[in-house]
Amino acid sequence: MKIVIVGGTGTIGSAVATALQGRHEVVRVGRTRGDYQTDIADSAAIRRTFDAIGGFDALVSAAGKVHYGDFAAVTEKEMAIGLQDKLMGQVNLVLLGRDYIADEGSFTLTSGVVGHDPVRDGACASLVNGALEYFVRAAAIELPRGLRINCVSPGILIESLPVFGDYFPGHEPVPGARVANAYVKAVEGRQTGQVYEVI
Ligand SMILES: NC(=O)c1ccc[n+]([C@@H]2O[C@H](COP(=O)([O-])OP(=O)(O)OC[C@H]3O[C@@H](n4cnc5c(N)ncnc54)[C@H](OP(=O)(O)O)[C@@H]3O)[C@@H](O)[C@H]2O)c1
Repeated sequence: MKIVIVGGTGTIGSAVATALQGRHEVVRVGRTRGDYQTDIADSAAIRRTFDAIGGFDALVSAAGKVHYGDFAAVTEKEMAIGLQDKLMGQVNLVLLGRDYIADEGSFTLTSGVVGHDPVRDGACASLVNGALEYFVRAAAIELPRGLRINCVSPGILIESLPVFGDYFPGHEPVPGARVANAYVKAVEGRQTGQVYEVI
């Protein structure tokens, strides 16, 4: 399969690329690095990137920014970052990707543990992750041509502890390679409308 990994240069995306390459043609897309660059918060940029890549069999998204910060001080503008980037960015990868994906292809998006297990400072992430998971459940029953869509909800990765670990006291960190397996299941399996929690 030709598999496009948006966020393929990041912590999760690199682990997914490692798990899939060898058996598949993997195309890594980043914001500043990778085989192609895009900005998922800009739908025109997404379309330009898809035009450059051409058709594909599967799209994995492991990209998306959200604001973490004290709920007492959080602003509408800060909440909007996650809505535009992680939520609508990934939704637009699906909406636009429908024109490029092959019959029986698959979309795999990324939410995160705080969608159902909130943490301090994480209201925006909870909002976005929950919305993504319900979008996936709904889109799955209407996608045409045998297309599938799933979501992976990782816990905090061991590799990300130095950056985000302080937000996740008491959480059991998960190895990136184990998280990557959920994406392999989504891409190479036949299920649809699923949220794979890796915690
Ligand atoms: N890491 C964790 O523990 C964890 C746990 C649960 C959920 N998540 C979620 O998983 C996703 C990926 O996390 P990560 O830790 O792997 O992130 P990361 O290491 O920061 O990597 C982010 C990736 O996305 C790309 N990217 C960033 N902004 C983009 C944009 N606007 N358009 C297109 N590509 C963009 C980056 O490209 P460049 O390298 O070119 O900048 C990079 O490939 C995030 O949504 C995060 O909330 C992460």
